[in-house]
Amino acid sequence: MCGDDPQELEGKVAVVTGAGGVLCSGMAEALARAGAAVALLDLRPEAAQAVADRINRAGGKALAVKANVLDKKDVQTAEQTVRSSLARPISSSTARAATAPRPRRSPISSFSTCPRMPSDGFSN
Ligand SMILES: NC(=O)c1ccc[n+]([C@@H]2O[C@H](COP(=O)([O-])OP(=O)(O)OC[C@H]3O[C@@H](n4cnc5c(N)ncnc54)[C@H](O)[C@@H]3O)[C@@H](O)[C@H]2O)c1
Repeated sequence: MCGDDPQELEGKVAVVTGAGGVLCSGMAEALARAGAAVALLDLRPEAAQAVADRINRAGGKALAVKANVLDKKDVQTAEQTVRSSLARPISSSTARAATAPRPRRSPISSFSTCPRMPSDGFSN
C-alpha cells in the first residue's frame, strides 16, 4: 500500500497533479514517504514549491512544476521537465485537479494510479 513501506516506490517517479492543494499535497507526501521521487504539478507554483520544500526537508525528493493540467502543451512541457530532472518517470499519477472539469483523455497515456490511499492519513 502506498505510504506503508518506505522502499515500496524506491526508484519510481510519481506525478501528482493539483499537488499544491490540501488533498494532493498529502498524497504527494505519502508517495515520497514510500520512496518515490515526486513531481508536483500545480497551477500555483508557490503552493507546489512549499510542498516540495517540506518533502525535500524531510529527506525525500520532490520537484515543483507549474502546469495547467488541462492544457496539453503545458503537460507536455511539464513531462519534459520531470523526465530531465527526476530521471525515471513516469510511474504514477495520484490525482487530477479535482476542481477542474475532467479532460476527455490524459495527454500522458502511461500514467497509472496509486491503488489505495495511505492508511496513516495526511500530514497536514
Ligand atoms: N479538502 C477536503 O477535505 C475535501 C473533501 C472532499 C472533497 N474535496 C474536493 O477535492 C478537490 C481537491 O480538494 P483540495 O482541498 O485539495 O482542494 P485545493 O483547492 O486545496 O487544491 C486543488 C489544487 O489544484 C490546483 N489546480 C486546480 N486546477 C488546476 C489545473 N487546471 N492544473 C493544475 N493544478 C490545478 C489548485 O491550484 C490547487 O492547488 C476539490 O474539488 C474539493 O472540493 C476536498
